[in-house]
Amino acid sequence: MDFPFCAGSQLSGRGDKVRGGLIVASNREPYSHRKTGRGLKLEIPTGGLVSALDMVLRVTGGTWVAWGSGNGDREGTDADSRVWVPPLNPSYRLRRVWLSPESVKNHYHGFCNLFLWPLFHGEPDRILYRKPFWGHYERVNRAFVDAILAEGNEDSTIWIHDYHLCLAPSMVRAASPERTIAHFWHVPWPDWELFCAAPQSEALLTGLLGNDLIGFQIPLYACNFMASAAACLGAAIDYKAMTVTWQGRITQVRSFPISTDFHSFDSLATASATEIRVRRLRSKHRLPKLVGLAVDRLDYTKGIIERLQVLERFFHSNHSFRGTFTFIQIAVMTRNGAPYRAYRQEVEALVERINARFGTADWRPIVYSTTQLDQEELAAYYRLADIAVITPLCDGMNLVAKEYVAAKTDGEGVLILGRRAGAAAELDGALLVDPTDRDAFVATLRRALTMSRVEKRERMAQMRQQVRQHTIYGWVGNILDELALIPQMKGGGRDALQHGEEIAARLAGRGLLLCLDFDGTLAPIVECPERAEMPDDVRAQLIALQGRHPIAILSGRSLADVRARTGLPGLIYGGNHGAEMGGYTAGTGSLADDRLLLEEFLVDAERAFAQVPGVLIEDKGVTASIHFRRVAPAQRETFLVAFQPLARQYAGRLRITEGRKVIEIFPQTAGDKGAALQQLMAEVGSGMVPVYLGDDISDEDAFRAIRKCGISVSVGGSPAAEFYLRNQGEVARFLSLLAHSANGRNFQVTGHDTKEAESI
Ligand code: UDP
Ligand code: G6P
Repeated sequence: MDFPFCAGSQLSGRGDKVRGGLIVASNREPYSHRKTGRGLKLEIPTGGLVSALDMVLRVTGGTWVAWGSGNGDREGTDADSRVWVPPLNPSYRLRRVWLSPESVKNHYHGFCNLFLWPLFHGEPDRILYRKPFWGHYERVNRAFVDAILAEGNEDSTIWIHDYHLCLAPSMVRAASPERTIAHFWHVPWPDWELFCAAPQSEALLTGLLGNDLIGFQIPLYACNFMASAAACLGAAIDYKAMTVTWQGRITQVRSFPISTDFHSFDSLATASATEIRVRRLRSKHRLPKLVGLAVDRLDYTKGIIERLQVLERFFHSNHSFRGTFTFIQIAVMTRNGAPYRAYRQEVEALVERINARFGTADWRPIVYSTTQLDQEELAAYYRLADIAVITPLCDGMNLVAKEYVAAKTDGEGVLILGRRAGAAAELDGALLVDPTDRDAFVATLRRALTMSRVEKRERMAQMRQQVRQHTIYGWVGNILDELALIPQMKGGGRDALQHGEEIAARLAGRGLLLCLDFDGTLAPIVECPERAEMPDDVRAQLIALQGRHPIAILSGRSLADVRARTGLPGLIYGGNHGAEMGGYTAGTGSLADDRLLLEEFLVDAERAFAQVPGVLIEDKGVTASIHFRRVAPAQRETFLVAFQPLARQYAGRLRITEGRKVIEIFPQTAGDKGAALQQLMAEVGSGMVPVYLGDDISDEDAFRAIRKCGISVSVGGSPAAEFYLRNQGEVARFLSLLAHSANGRNFQVTGHDTKEAESI
């Protein structure tokens, strides 16, 4: 048995449903080892992909497959090329892929940086294509696929990133046809005419259409991609359903705007250490009253030269800002190919020229630094900057813009944003500019520096609300929700909310027997099961349905627990996954014998897991649960090693199944949710249409029990159900749909004639 990854509190159980664990693959690694005179030093490369995915994997756990680019990387990994990261809080595994210098030259520096990067950023004049690039691009994609397939198991979900690995999806598909494979595209996707004219465009698209799901930053890029697939390959596009069908396969296309950890930047910005840093920076750079800021990787797409040219013009025509306004440009070099070296020289010459032209003995117009900063240092820069000028010529999203907003806790910064950054589609309070329209850009700079306090606050409040509501954890939660639906979609599963009319027609004139799971269905999953509670909107819908239809709650919790936690009279309750209905225990065995065996197991389990922190063993009378949600990812192997002999010892005597971050232990004779539902159909809901909603693996018994006669709805995806809801947040809407479509019968549970089902 293998176990899915552990999600932390920020995801509140979203992602639990991605079976078999998550394998992420990207060219750039999140941590690299560098050899120094004093041993190995761990470094974090700069870039939006690494910033965002490291935050995600720290929470979800999993394996990240990436190119081992550091000169000490081999020494920094074990014999299987793996290392747990981050070192102080091991949360996920990094699996390094080794590439020859020839491949690095032709794949990374060549095909990716000289050809694909300018192609996808709409810079046709910079595109360079050389013959050997393609062979190495294929070879490197193959090397990644070999590493990916060696990680995880047959069920693991594969999540590939960016333009370096376009061929990997179809290569994985060929080797493992049933896999769930997804891609996230961090950069823009250009107009189809530009894309389709480029060499290898068909092969790149073919590779990408091996994915089940491709995510883009904004809807425009998703549409450009679909238009390219239609024009280049003749693939069938459904713009409403957002799908591309090609060679009999369907690829879902969505936009998922990436974001940052709002709360982390928000609290860093107000930390006292940041305040001290801000003071130090002010005196170190002798900063005047007003400060502007840009933070970029040193890249021509970031529009650094255009920005500096505008600043030169600004200082030329706005004398009053000389001596009172300094602009800080952080430019971190991550790519050292020829165009990047030339670009750097040009940038630095321009900075020198501006400083020589306008600078004085005690004032520098431009403070320029190429030193890479960590988040704490960045937060100090964000905090001190009155304006941030983030004006890429073209950018997938631009996380710096969102980080600046998150760190602007005083609400008074102004953000100037390039129109063609993905972030411009999201941050309504920003001042948008075309970075190449110098006059308008100069005017916008002036406007930002002279903006009234009231307007600044209004604009910043609007942007902060946006970033607060759409964090990196929401981003990954949405993607994981979508990924979890894929196996069900592939089997023909349909969206319950979009098929309301069909569901209503099936219920018409028949009566409804509504059965629901509790955790993950009526109540969101939380880190501590004892804190789970039903949200008000779900409760209101249950109240609206109650009395008109028989409603049963079938939970893995004990009967007493689920009854008290739901707290609604007039419902039917079943505990222990349906094995405990009212005062009676469903099943065929002797209750006393079953209990003795369970007690014996519990004693052994306490002993087996004594040394594994985070394991919670729950005795629910009829069954038991071993929760491992709080076991740290790096401890998971210890957990497994402790569990396996126990599983062997009780094999055949107890039924052991896996749920979401939990192992369930049943007496062999105990009934399940399917049996409980059948019993309810016979005794309470005869002639009615059973509708069952559940999110966990034990709910699949109920889905299967009504596959032919009822309506099964998985919350978050299950191949065993007919319909799905994307997540628990959609349950209230579905219940409302039922309330409006099913004819009630004034059903009263009180005094109903089944002794097995109990009501309160
Ligand atoms: N960054 C950093 N240190 C620096 C400069 C940048 O950690 O000195 C980070 C920054 O916080 C952001 C990322 O690098 O998270 C840049 O992402 P963005 O989306 O802005 O651009 P990309 O590099 O992906 O093109
Ligand atoms: C962008 C790309 C990433 C890349 C990053 C840094 O964010 O989308 O894939 O990792 O730039 O570029 P580098 O070439 O240094 O990895």
